[in-house]
Amino acid sequence: MKIKIELKLSRFIWLFDSLLKVLLALEDVAVYTQPVFEDPSNVTAIAGNNAKLQCKVHHLENYTVAWVNPRGTILTRGYLKITDDTRISTDRNVDEDWNIIIRNISFEDRGFYNCVINTAPFPSVNRVHLHVIVPPRIIGRVVHAPVVVREGETVTLVCNATGYPFPKIHWFRDRITNDFKQAFDTVWRDGLWYKLLKSGINVTDLPGDTLVIRNITRHCAGEYQCRANNGLSREDTRVFKVEVHFAPEVSMLIPRLGITLGSETVLQCSCSSSPIGVCVWKKDGRDLRISGKYELNPYNEGHETITLGLTISHIQEEDLGRYECHAQNELGQDSGYTDLYEYRPPVPPTHAPTARPTPRLITPDSGYRPVPTKTQKNIFDDENFVFFRPSTIKTPSKYSSESRSSSLGVAFCTLVIGFIGLHFFTSLSL
Ligand SMILES: *[C@@H]1O[C@H](CO)[C@@H](O)[C@H](O)[C@H]1NC(C)=O
Ligand SMILES: *[C@@H]1O[C@H](CO)[C@@H](O)[C@H](O)[C@H]1NC(C)=O
Ligand SMILES: *[C@@H]1O[C@H](CO)[C@@H](O)[C@H](O)[C@H]1NC(C)=O
Ligand SMILES: *[C@@H]1O[C@H](CO)[C@@H](O)[C@H](O)[C@H]1NC(C)=O
Ligand SMILES: *[C@@H]1O[C@H](CO)[C@@H](O)[C@H](O)[C@H]1NC(C)=O
Ligand SMILES: *[C@@H]1O[C@H](CO)[C@@H](O)[C@H](O)[C@H]1NC(C)=O
Repeated sequence: MKIKIELKLSRFIWLFDSLLKVLLALEDVAVYTQPVFEDPSNVTAIAGNNAKLQCKVHHLENYTVAWVNPRGTILTRGYLKITDDTRISTDRNVDEDWNIIIRNISFEDRGFYNCVINTAPFPSVNRVHLHVIVPPRIIGRVVHAPVVVREGETVTLVCNATGYPFPKIHWFRDRITNDFKQAFDTVWRDGLWYKLLKSGINVTDLPGDTLVIRNITRHCAGEYQCRANNGLSREDTRVFKVEVHFAPEVSMLIPRLGITLGSETVLQCSCSSSPIGVCVWKKDGRDLRISGKYELNPYNEGHETITLGLTISHIQEEDLGRYECHAQNELGQDSGYTDLYEYRPPVPPTHAPTARPTPRLITPDSGYRPVPTKTQKNIFDDENFVFFRPSTIKTPSKYSSESRSSSLGVAFCTLVIGFIGLHFFTSLSL
């Protein structure tokens, strides 16, 4: 009941109000002919573009329209341009239009512009707000040279950006074609959250102006990209290359090898180092070079690792002994060894078949000379075979815990993120 009455009452007031307005308007026209503004509309523009500020006036009669900028400077009066700012011009399509255009606007142009009519006793004012968006820009010198550190050191990458609204900075790791993709795990360790990046393949999206990588490992080497974005489609990016140097590490595929005289064999070692150093095979302190007897086959395995194969043909007694694989760079050196010894196959019974079996590679045993049993006989009857312990290959546990490999062979890299107090708009200069 009460609601109904209130509704009726408000309706009545509305009617009365409208009527009053019409009467007053009639009176205006008849007596004062006051100019009337059309509703103002705010303007949002991107720095560098042009902005059109609109002021539409009806019943201007003898009055004059002027534009005043946020700092109180008169830009135009009537048809005249007052300011000497060459970027400003008037724009009038019809008589009611008193628009101005500001070309190549800058952040400093933002604020309230007043379209003023010199009515008395008080001027009539229409306020138009010019909102200026500044695309993100990463500031500071672009450095093309990589950031070079040693394992265990700390790397700090800084991406200072300007823009309005203030851009958000995100960090990405490792480029896949043109795209940086996202993937990371977060772990809690020693009172800090760490992001474990999956090296090589996947990337992360880390917020902050500064990326700090503590206690860096070789698996953190690569490209890091920061992206500054403030919601515009245009974003600014910068790429930092990080090179991690480490002393060589040599790992041997075959530490001990039994061989029959007169045959041929291949020894292999893997040398990892950064920067790339030398990786050579030696015997009795002497570098082995390609010759009739030796053949060297390097394979680039990527990730600063090469595998160096050494083929020794027609093995004689003097070829037996210790072979050293030696790697060296400016940070240090490492060696691995393979012992070549003579293996005499069991003397076959005199009634054995005379046909020579084809040479065959024998794969793992656990490091002892197996006694041939009946089922193994066929294998160990072969004249040429290789005999090794795969379990002595250096395991990744030699590396730091941060650079351990997962069961999938994916290496991890730990990153710690820091911030610089730049989350306000400070150093914009246009
Ligand atoms: C214009 O912008 C100002 C400042 O942002 C705001 O206060 C005002 O309400 C806006 N006016 C219109 C008509 O949108
Ligand atoms: C407009 O100007 C005319 C003459 O130029 C004058 O007679 C008239 O009074 C003026 N009107 C107003 C509202 O100032
Ligand atoms: C980034 O900004 C900070 C704070 O203003 C300044 O100390 C630093 O030198 C800047 N770094 C770069 C690379 O521009
Ligand atoms: C890496 O990213 C790809 C595609 O985004 C995904 O399929 C793959 O599982 C990710 N690998 C890891 C180790 O997270
Ligand atoms: C750096 O990493 C290595 C291996 O990951 C670790 O043994 C060492 O304690 C770490 N050092 C610091 C200062 O965190
Ligand atoms: C726009 O203004 C900026 C300074 O605010 C100036 O550096 C630039 O040259 C101008 N561009 C044009 C096309 O006038």
